[in-house]
Amino acid sequence: TTTIEVGMLGLGTVGSGVVSRLQQAATQIEQTQGLRLHLAAVAVNHLAAPRAVTLPLGTRLTDSIQAVVTDPKIQLVIEVMGTLEVAEQAIATALKHGKSVITANKDLIATAGDRLIAVAQRQHCDLFYEASVAGGIPILRTLTDSYATDQVTALAGIINGTANYMLSAMTAGQTYAQALAAAQTAGYAEADPTNDVLGLDTAYKLMILSRFAFGQGPTLPTLQPTGITQLTPTICQQAARSGWQVKLLAQAQPANGQLYCRVAPVAVPSQQALSQVGGVQNGVAVTSRAIGASLYTGPGAGSTATANSVLNDVIVAAHNLIHQTAGVAFNRQRQCLPVANFNQ
Ligand code: HSE
Repeated sequence: TTTIEVGMLGLGTVGSGVVSRLQQAATQIEQTQGLRLHLAAVAVNHLAAPRAVTLPLGTRLTDSIQAVVTDPKIQLVIEVMGTLEVAEQAIATALKHGKSVITANKDLIATAGDRLIAVAQRQHCDLFYEASVAGGIPILRTLTDSYATDQVTALAGIINGTANYMLSAMTAGQTYAQALAAAQTAGYAEADPTNDVLGLDTAYKLMILSRFAFGQGPTLPTLQPTGITQLTPTICQQAARSGWQVKLLAQAQPANGQLYCRVAPVAVPSQQALSQVGGVQNGVAVTSRAIGASLYTGPGAGSTATANSVLNDVIVAAHNLIHQTAGVAFNRQRQCLPVANFNQ
């Protein structure tokens, strides 16, 4: 058994889930993977704030991010605190100190992923972020591994659990406010749910997904997402009576050397599989030359499912550290065919 020293930034919904999963799965990880993942330190904003989990004995709680990302004993850093500038700085510092980094931060990876990937590449460190898109569904790894020689021709997804949960709840008769409150209570919504309902969270995830599917993604200004704030129970119910389900869809499709992308609510006919993806579920429909049409569904948000994706990344990165292969596989999204070359 090899011990890997882990540091974590943030102890909110996902962070608490990671602590629980680490504890629950410790014996299994040791027996099946030959790994002991020791949570050495966790950085939080407020040391005295109430916690959903109890930290294991021997885990240091600190309010200094810097202390964690520069700690010479820590080999791997999990960033689950969110934010843009502070998180980017923290991840860059961790990478510059030779640590592998796992993050669930979709806003950051969508907007500054290229910069951080470049740092990781220079430092020969892993930077994994499976949990950033579609919570519990291993969609980035699937696109990387299972579509390695295939060519994706279209992608359509329900990739915000909060919006999907709200649309299902409104279709069942709840008001917008009730549906949002329930999504917040369940731990699906962002701390500030603005990005969930405005379609920005979906846009960030589409930016990441597109890079894996097509080798390039849209920028936020070109996407101009439309969210669900104008939708009402009446609209959702009327659509349902006509055989349609209102879904906040992310779509990307190459044509004529360009990648056409949009994020907007769409009335999906009931016979289409995506219309059946309800509640907090996410669904990603991938069409490709070799496989044809596939639909990947599963929980798109929530503490445990998202934490599980984080933990899987941690295990891959830990093995890479042990075998000194960190920094080799992180950038495989680039192997996808750029859309400009799509027809060659
Ligand atoms: N707020 C996000 C969602 C969390 O509802 O999908 C998972 O990224």
